[in-house]
Amino acid sequence: MFKRFRRIRMHPKSRAMVRETHLSMDDFIYPLFIKSGEGFKKEISSMPGVFQMSIDEVLKECEELDGLGIQAIILFGIPETKDSIGSDALCEHGIMAKSVRAIKEKFPHFFVITDLCFCEYTDHGHCGILNKDSVDNDATLEILAKQALIHAKSGVDMIAPSGMMDGVITVLRDALDSEGFVNLPIMSYSTKFASSYYGPFRDVAESAPSFGDRRSYQMDPANRQEAIAESIEDELEGADILMVKPALAYLDIVREVKDKTSLPLCVYNVSGEYAMLKAAAKAGVIDYERVLLETMISFKRAGADIIISYHAKEVAKLLQNDKGSK
Ligand code: PBG
Ligand code: ZN
Repeated sequence: MFKRFRRIRMHPKSRAMVRETHLSMDDFIYPLFIKSGEGFKKEISSMPGVFQMSIDEVLKECEELDGLGIQAIILFGIPETKDSIGSDALCEHGIMAKSVRAIKEKFPHFFVITDLCFCEYTDHGHCGILNKDSVDNDATLEILAKQALIHAKSGVDMIAPSGMMDGVITVLRDALDSEGFVNLPIMSYSTKFASSYYGPFRDVAESAPSFGDRRSYQMDPANRQEAIAESIEDELEGADILMVKPALAYLDIVREVKDKTSLPLCVYNVSGEYAMLKAAAKAGVIDYERVLLETMISFKRAGADIIISYHAKEVAKLLQNDKGSK
């Protein structure tokens, strides 16, 4: 006696009926990179299909996203001027505050998320205020709280701190609550590794550190137990959604965090993961669309509820054509 697993695989309908994991556009968040100016739209060479855009161009992009059923976006700002403390991020007229207001005015039904960090705004490219050669955790918490309130007042729907400062969720929750933003959720980049998969992002966000690296605040890719502890700490501090980043090389961590938390879990399918698939497609070595959907399904199967991905528009088109379910 043995079990015939193949019986249920014979008919496409029965395969569909027993499918355990599904993709929906409700799962996706699309990243946008916003620069000052007008009529500006520049493609990033390592990330075909990903652009830096001025606000007017972003509004056109949102129109397209809306048509594709993508109404959740995460914004990254590239300011005109950078300085040692990232002043543009602390100003109501900074690139992020302006962008959020413009998008929410034209697309009030969108769910607008902002990445909360300083690496795009500082002239040294690190994620906070420096003290000698290291990022000063507690001084950075103070300006993160200010940045969060700027975003909150400009009408953002959720903030996503990405700088891996200790205690950030406690500090942000306190700051938001004391100003009346008790209903503004926080999605924490709770387990974020010091990864070389972020390479292309630093071109598009113009946020590469001018010296050193981020290993004194982002996590060692070798550490599994610490990865769980980082996320659980943010749950205890009051985060509403947790995140593991990058995604593909860390699916073991995604599963473990998911099993240990009751919070929704997001994965960030990062720039290097996107660039690799694009490069493989260009080289003609893979069936791009199938590999893409297989990759997205792997995130959900590992336990992710939400996927931040530069592929979101492509996925929307594939799901519309029903290629995803065959
Ligand atoms: C900023 C930030 C980074 C990413 C998201 N937010 C880069 C970094 O930490 O250097 C990476 C996203 C990607 O690679 O797509 N702190
Ligand atoms: Zn940063």
